[in-house]
Amino acid sequence: MRANIVPFMLQSAEENMNNDASRDFTWQELVGGGLIWQIPLVFGGHAKPLVFSEGVNLGQHVVAHEIDATTETAAHEILSDIMAAHQAGDIHTTARYKCKNPLRWLSMIYPAVCNPRFVGLFFPGDTLLGWLSFSTSPSMPGKAIIGAVIRPKYRNAGLGTAAMLHAQKYLHDIVRDESITGIFFDTQERNARVMAIARRIKAVEAGRRVDELRGGEIMVSFTSEVALDA
Ligand SMILES: CC(C)(COP(=O)(O)OP(=O)(O)OC[C@H]1O[C@@H](n2cnc3c(N)ncnc32)[C@H](O)[C@@H]1OP(=O)(O)O)[C@@H](O)C(=O)NCCC(=O)NCCS
Repeated sequence: MRANIVPFMLQSAEENMNNDASRDFTWQELVGGGLIWQIPLVFGGHAKPLVFSEGVNLGQHVVAHEIDATTETAAHEILSDIMAAHQAGDIHTTARYKCKNPLRWLSMIYPAVCNPRFVGLFFPGDTLLGWLSFSTSPSMPGKAIIGAVIRPKYRNAGLGTAAMLHAQKYLHDIVRDESITGIFFDTQERNARVMAIARRIKAVEAGRRVDELRGGEIMVSFTSEVALDA
Protein backbone atom coordinates (compact mmCIF):
# COMPACT_ATOMS: atom_id res chain seq x y z
CA MET A 1 0.00 0.00 0.00
CA ARG A 2 1.42 3.40 -0.97
CA ALA A 3 0.89 6.31 1.37
CA ASN A 4 1.61 9.95 0.81
CA ILE A 5 3.00 11.54 3.93
CA VAL A 6 3.20 15.29 4.38
CA PRO A 7 6.90 16.10 3.98
CA PHE A 8 8.50 17.22 7.22
CA MET A 9 9.53 20.52 5.59
CA LEU A 10 5.89 21.39 4.93
CA GLN A 11 4.84 21.14 8.57
CA SER A 12 4.15 24.35 10.40
CA ALA A 13 6.74 25.69 12.83
CA GLU A 14 4.38 24.95 15.70
CA GLU A 15 4.00 21.32 14.65
CA ASN A 16 7.77 21.03 14.33
CA MET A 17 8.28 22.33 17.84
CA ASN A 18 5.91 19.66 19.14
CA ASN A 19 8.07 16.92 17.59
CA ASP A 20 10.58 16.14 20.33
CA ALA A 21 13.28 14.63 18.15
CA SER A 22 15.51 13.87 21.13
CA ARG A 23 13.32 11.23 22.71
CA ASP A 24 13.61 7.54 21.93
CA PHE A 25 10.86 6.28 19.70
CA THR A 26 9.46 2.80 19.90
CA TRP A 27 9.74 0.58 16.88
CA GLN A 28 5.93 0.58 16.58
CA GLU A 29 5.94 4.35 16.35
CA LEU A 30 8.68 4.27 13.76
CA VAL A 31 7.07 1.84 11.41
CA GLY A 32 3.46 2.48 12.30
CA GLY A 33 3.27 6.03 11.12
CA GLY A 34 3.48 7.63 14.57
CA LEU A 35 6.20 9.88 13.22
CA ILE A 36 6.20 12.26 10.30
CA TRP A 37 9.18 11.22 8.19
CA GLN A 38 10.99 13.58 5.89
CA ILE A 39 10.77 11.06 3.07
CA PRO A 40 7.43 9.43 2.23
CA LEU A 41 7.49 5.75 3.10
CA VAL A 42 5.57 2.72 1.93
CA PHE A 43 3.50 1.53 4.83
CA GLY A 44 3.35 -2.23 4.77
CA GLY A 45 6.63 -2.18 2.85
CA HIS A 46 9.93 -3.51 4.18
CA ALA A 47 10.69 -2.04 7.60
CA LYS A 48 13.37 -3.56 9.85
CA PRO A 49 16.29 -2.51 11.98
CA LEU A 50 19.46 -2.74 9.89
CA VAL A 51 21.13 -6.11 10.40
CA PHE A 52 24.82 -6.23 11.34
CA SER A 53 24.56 -2.63 12.49
CA GLU A 54 27.11 -3.49 15.20
CA GLY A 55 29.63 -3.15 12.38
CA VAL A 56 28.39 0.35 11.50
CA ASN A 57 30.38 3.12 13.08
CA LEU A 58 27.86 5.99 13.04
CA GLY A 59 27.03 6.22 16.74
CA GLN A 60 23.30 5.56 16.31
CA HIS A 61 21.27 2.61 15.23
CA VAL A 62 19.95 2.55 11.70
CA VAL A 63 16.61 1.41 10.35
CA ALA A 64 15.76 0.24 6.85
CA HIS A 65 12.41 1.29 5.46
CA GLU A 66 10.91 1.15 1.98
CA ILE A 67 10.68 4.61 0.43
CA ASP A 68 7.64 5.64 -1.62
CA ALA A 69 9.37 6.63 -4.82
CA THR A 70 6.05 7.35 -6.52
CA THR A 71 6.12 10.69 -4.69
CA GLU A 72 8.01 13.72 -6.00
CA THR A 73 9.76 14.24 -2.65
CA ALA A 74 11.27 10.76 -2.60
CA ALA A 75 12.05 10.75 -6.33
CA HIS A 76 13.89 14.06 -5.92
CA GLU A 77 16.04 12.74 -3.06
CA ILE A 78 16.99 9.61 -4.98
CA LEU A 79 17.74 11.50 -8.18
CA SER A 80 19.83 14.09 -6.33
CA ASP A 81 22.01 11.30 -4.94
CA ILE A 82 22.30 9.65 -8.35
CA MET A 83 23.35 12.91 -10.03
CA ALA A 84 25.90 13.65 -7.29
CA ALA A 85 27.42 10.16 -7.61
CA HIS A 86 27.49 10.56 -11.39
CA GLN A 87 29.25 13.92 -11.11
CA ALA A 88 31.78 12.38 -8.72
CA GLY A 89 32.50 9.69 -11.34
CA ASP A 90 31.37 6.81 -9.10
CA ILE A 91 28.46 5.76 -11.29
CA HIS A 92 27.22 6.55 -14.77
CA THR A 93 23.75 7.67 -15.78
CA THR A 94 22.35 9.21 -18.92
CA ALA A 95 19.84 11.15 -16.80
CA ARG A 96 20.35 14.90 -16.52
CA TYR A 97 18.02 15.70 -13.65
CA LYS A 98 17.90 19.39 -12.72
CA CYS A 99 15.21 19.41 -10.04
CA LYS A 100 12.35 19.36 -12.53
CA ASN A 101 9.97 16.47 -13.26
CA PRO A 102 11.49 14.04 -10.74
CA LEU A 103 8.98 11.28 -11.39
CA ARG A 104 9.62 11.34 -15.12
CA TRP A 105 13.40 11.22 -14.66
CA LEU A 106 13.21 8.46 -12.09
CA SER A 107 11.01 6.36 -14.35
CA MET A 108 13.59 6.80 -17.10
CA ILE A 109 16.26 5.24 -14.87
CA TYR A 110 13.90 2.78 -13.22
CA PRO A 111 10.98 1.99 -15.57
CA ALA A 112 7.86 0.74 -13.81
CA VAL A 113 8.06 -2.50 -15.78
CA CYS A 114 11.28 -3.27 -13.82
CA ASN A 115 9.27 -3.20 -10.60
CA PRO A 116 11.66 -0.86 -8.77
CA ARG A 117 11.70 -0.64 -4.99
CA PHE A 118 13.84 1.61 -2.84
CA VAL A 119 14.89 0.86 0.70
CA GLY A 120 16.11 3.88 2.65
CA LEU A 121 18.56 3.73 5.53
CA PHE A 122 17.59 6.14 8.25
CA PHE A 123 18.52 7.34 11.66
CA PRO A 124 15.20 6.84 13.47
CA GLY A 125 13.00 9.83 12.89
CA ASP A 126 14.01 11.20 9.58
CA THR A 127 17.63 11.52 8.44
CA LEU A 128 18.13 9.65 5.18
CA LEU A 129 21.67 8.23 5.15
CA GLY A 130 21.45 6.37 1.86
CA TRP A 131 19.36 3.86 0.01
CA LEU A 132 19.36 0.67 -2.02
CA SER A 133 17.38 0.16 -5.20
CA PHE A 134 15.99 -3.19 -6.30
CA SER A 135 14.76 -3.77 -9.84
CA THR A 136 14.36 -6.59 -12.32
CA SER A 137 15.21 -7.14 -15.96
CA PRO A 138 14.16 -9.81 -18.44
CA SER A 139 17.86 -10.19 -19.21
CA MET A 140 18.54 -11.15 -15.58
CA PRO A 141 15.88 -13.71 -14.68
CA GLY A 142 15.66 -14.63 -11.01
CA LYS A 143 17.83 -11.73 -9.90
CA ALA A 144 17.17 -8.45 -8.15
CA ILE A 145 19.45 -5.81 -9.62
CA ILE A 146 20.77 -3.70 -6.77
CA GLY A 147 21.97 -0.12 -6.86
CA ALA A 148 23.27 1.72 -3.80
CA VAL A 149 24.14 5.19 -2.67
CA ILE A 150 25.35 6.07 0.80
CA ARG A 151 25.43 9.85 1.23
CA PRO A 152 29.03 11.15 1.41
CA LYS A 153 28.86 12.18 5.07
CA TYR A 154 28.01 8.62 6.11
CA ARG A 155 30.47 6.68 3.94
CA ASN A 156 33.34 4.48 5.09
CA ALA A 157 31.55 3.65 8.33
CA GLY A 158 30.46 0.18 7.27
CA LEU A 159 26.95 1.24 6.27
CA GLY A 160 27.21 0.17 2.62
CA THR A 161 28.43 -3.28 3.67
CA ALA A 162 25.69 -3.65 6.28
CA ALA A 163 23.08 -2.50 3.76
CA MET A 164 24.14 -5.17 1.27
CA LEU A 165 24.14 -7.84 3.98
CA HIS A 166 20.65 -6.63 4.89
CA ALA A 167 19.60 -6.96 1.25
CA GLN A 168 20.90 -10.52 1.15
CA LYS A 169 19.12 -11.45 4.37
CA TYR A 170 15.80 -9.77 3.63
CA LEU A 171 15.65 -9.97 -0.15
CA HIS A 172 12.36 -11.82 -0.18
CA ASP A 173 10.72 -9.45 2.25
CA ILE A 174 11.90 -6.51 0.16
CA VAL A 175 11.07 -7.64 -3.37
CA ARG A 176 8.10 -9.90 -2.54
CA ASP A 177 8.61 -11.96 -5.65
CA GLU A 178 9.20 -15.68 -5.21
CA SER A 179 10.89 -15.98 -8.58
CA ILE A 180 13.76 -13.81 -7.31
CA THR A 181 16.43 -15.99 -5.72
CA GLY A 182 19.51 -13.82 -5.82
CA ILE A 183 21.03 -10.40 -6.30
CA PHE A 184 23.07 -8.87 -9.11
CA PHE A 185 25.09 -5.68 -9.14
CA ASP A 186 27.77 -4.24 -11.33
CA THR A 187 30.34 -1.55 -10.86
CA GLN A 188 33.32 0.13 -12.43
CA GLU A 189 36.42 -1.89 -11.63
CA ARG A 190 38.00 1.26 -10.18
CA ASN A 191 35.14 1.68 -7.66
CA ALA A 192 37.24 0.33 -4.79
CA ARG A 193 34.46 0.64 -2.23
CA VAL A 194 32.05 -1.54 -4.17
CA MET A 195 34.80 -4.05 -4.95
CA ALA A 196 35.59 -4.23 -1.22
CA ILE A 197 31.92 -4.71 -0.34
CA ALA A 198 31.55 -7.46 -2.95
CA ARG A 199 34.41 -9.33 -1.25
CA ARG A 200 32.96 -8.74 2.20
CA ILE A 201 29.51 -10.09 1.33
CA LYS A 202 31.06 -12.99 -0.58
CA ALA A 203 29.39 -12.12 -3.88
CA VAL A 204 30.64 -14.11 -6.85
CA GLU A 205 32.16 -12.31 -9.81
CA ALA A 206 29.88 -12.98 -12.77
CA GLY A 207 31.77 -11.26 -15.56
CA ARG A 208 33.77 -8.32 -16.83
CA ARG A 209 33.21 -6.19 -19.88
CA VAL A 210 34.75 -3.14 -21.45
CA ASP A 211 32.21 -0.36 -21.76
CA GLU A 212 33.21 1.36 -24.99
CA LEU A 213 30.47 3.97 -24.58
CA ARG A 214 32.15 5.13 -21.38
CA GLY A 215 35.72 5.51 -22.58
CA GLY A 216 36.69 1.87 -22.18
CA GLU A 217 35.63 1.67 -18.54
CA ILE A 218 35.94 -1.89 -17.20
CA MET A 219 32.69 -3.00 -15.58
CA VAL A 220 32.62 -5.93 -13.16
CA SER A 221 29.40 -7.71 -12.27
CA PHE A 222 28.61 -9.80 -9.22
CA THR A 223 25.86 -12.17 -8.17
CA SER A 224 24.89 -13.84 -4.96
CA GLU A 225 22.18 -16.39 -4.26
CA VAL A 226 20.30 -15.73 -1.05
CA ALA A 227 18.74 -17.93 1.58
CA LEU A 228 15.08 -17.61 2.49
CA ASP A 229 14.50 -14.94 5.13
CA ALA A 230 15.03 -16.22 8.63
C1 LIG B 1 29.77 2.41 -2.66
C2 LIG B 1 29.09 2.91 -1.40
C3 LIG B 1 27.61 2.51 -1.47
C4 LIG B 1 29.76 2.21 -0.21
O1 LIG B 1 29.16 2.64 0.99
P1 LIG B 1 30.04 2.83 2.32
O2 LIG B 1 29.10 2.99 3.45
O3 LIG B 1 31.05 3.88 2.10
O4 LIG B 1 30.75 1.40 2.41
P2 LIG B 1 31.48 0.70 3.64
O5 LIG B 1 31.92 1.73 4.62
O6 LIG B 1 30.62 -0.41 4.15
O7 LIG B 1 32.69 -0.06 2.96
C5 LIG B 1 33.55 0.59 2.15
C6 LIG B 1 34.72 -0.36 1.87
O8 LIG B 1 35.55 0.31 0.95
C7 LIG B 1 36.82 0.51 1.53
N1 LIG B 1 37.28 1.81 1.06
C8 LIG B 1 36.83 3.02 1.41
N2 LIG B 1 37.48 3.98 0.74
C9 LIG B 1 38.33 3.34 -0.06
C10 LIG B 1 39.28 3.77 -1.01
N3 LIG B 1 39.46 5.07 -1.29
N4 LIG B 1 40.00 2.83 -1.65
C11 LIG B 1 39.82 1.52 -1.38
N5 LIG B 1 38.92 1.06 -0.51
C12 LIG B 1 38.20 1.96 0.14
C13 LIG B 1 36.59 0.47 3.01
O9 LIG B 1 37.78 0.14 3.71
C14 LIG B 1 35.56 -0.62 3.10
O10 LIG B 1 36.14 -1.89 2.92
P3 LIG B 1 36.39 -2.88 4.15
O11 LIG B 1 35.04 -3.15 4.73
O12 LIG B 1 36.99 -4.10 3.53
O13 LIG B 1 37.29 -2.15 5.09
C15 LIG B 1 29.24 4.42 -1.20
O14 LIG B 1 30.60 4.72 -1.12
C16 LIG B 1 28.61 5.23 -2.31
O15 LIG B 1 27.43 5.57 -2.23
N6 LIG B 1 29.39 5.58 -3.36
C17 LIG B 1 28.87 6.38 -4.48
C18 LIG B 1 27.85 5.63 -5.32
C19 LIG B 1 28.32 4.26 -5.73
O16 LIG B 1 29.47 4.05 -6.09
N7 LIG B 1 27.38 3.31 -5.65
C20 LIG B 1 27.61 1.93 -6.01
C21 LIG B 1 27.17 1.67 -7.40
S1 LIG B 1 27.36 -0.07 -7.79
